[in-house]
Amino acid sequence: MAPKPPAIDIPNKFVGVGLDVGTSNLVAARVTEKGEESTVSKNAFLYVREDDTTKELLTRMNIPQQMVNGKLCVVGKNAYDFSNYFDRRTQRSMNIGVINPLEREAIHVINLIVSKMLWKPRVANEVCSFSLPGQPVDSAIDITYHRNVIETMLSCFGFEPLPINEAFAVVLSELKDQKFTGVGVSCGGGMVNVCITYTSVVIAEFSIARGGDWIDQRAANAVDVSVNKILLAKEKGMSIVGPESREEESIAIYYRQYIRYSLEQIAKVLHTPDTAAQFDGAVDIVFAGGSSMVGGFIDVVRKELRSVDLGIKINEARMAADPFLSVSRGCLLNAQMASG
Ligand SMILES: Nc1ncnc2c1ncn2[C@@H]1O[C@H](COP(=O)(O)OP(=O)(O)OP(=O)(O)O)[C@@H](O)[C@H]1O
Ligand SMILES: [Mg+2]
Repeated sequence: MAPKPPAIDIPNKFVGVGLDVGTSNLVAARVTEKGEESTVSKNAFLYVREDDTTKELLTRMNIPQQMVNGKLCVVGKNAYDFSNYFDRRTQRSMNIGVINPLEREAIHVINLIVSKMLWKPRVANEVCSFSLPGQPVDSAIDITYHRNVIETMLSCFGFEPLPINEAFAVVLSELKDQKFTGVGVSCGGGMVNVCITYTSVVIAEFSIARGGDWIDQRAANAVDVSVNKILLAKEKGMSIVGPESREEESIAIYYRQYIRYSLEQIAKVLHTPDTAAQFDGAVDIVFAGGSSMVGGFIDVVRKELRSVDLGIKINEARMAADPFLSVSRGCLLNAQMASG
């Protein structure tokens, strides 16, 4: 049974919640009388041994433990921190944009994480608009199961679930001044999502089954270090136009390949008849998502765009105002619009 919302009267303009359901991170957003607020959690977990030494270590590190289906587990950012300590990778409840088929407890873990980060609905059936990946152009992944799982979970929490394409969420939050005409791109941990719109009408939306995880795995293999070490090097603030170590060099090489490949996939779609024909002038292409946050990202994009013909004129290739929060903000706007 869905929990009853508290009996508070909130102005209609505050109603609605956004939830970015990502392979690496979950981000929730809403507006209250104090302004916009968001909560973030790593979409990760780790089974740990149920012995005294492990329990003592967790307690010493101030890391809370929980039972997931009878097994001792650490979830969210705690799993990330604990795995870093052992130079291990976390387990992941999602892979390449959808529920990880290889983790039996994936749904249980996502429920646990979301139950901690999402607020209670403020009105009965408050709309919660959640991000959904587009169909990949280069993989047979099907999103039906994933979509149903998230919808059921949000309904159980008392929300009215409302899916929104992840890259359309970027269009909503970043292309307002361009009358929602252009290309929104979300570069995530599991995939790249793309949405091409003309005056907010979707011309094409799709995904590309490569993300930060793809870069990490390839870069780690190339120089024979752990994926975890690569992840730390990548996120600590490096630049792909000026790598300073062997690991960074490897990351930069695969980043360039990932950017080139993504732009080529976008070009392929834009070159199909009828797609590019919808645009008469030049449009912006905006990049959001954690993987766009590496130093030098937009410089490499701009350089590659000199040799990749997207099939439409680009006015500006730019970064989202806040790349990490862009999708959750678009989800929030969608929820607010649906709430009238
Ligand atoms: N400063 C940074 N530099 C480079 N990469 C980063 C940085 N911060 C985070 N990342 C990478 O961004 C990715 C996560 O981004 P994001 O949270 O947008 O993905 P997601 O929404 O969870 O995944 P997806 O949309 O593919 O399902 C990870 O691969 C992470 O390593
Ligand atoms: Mg994402």
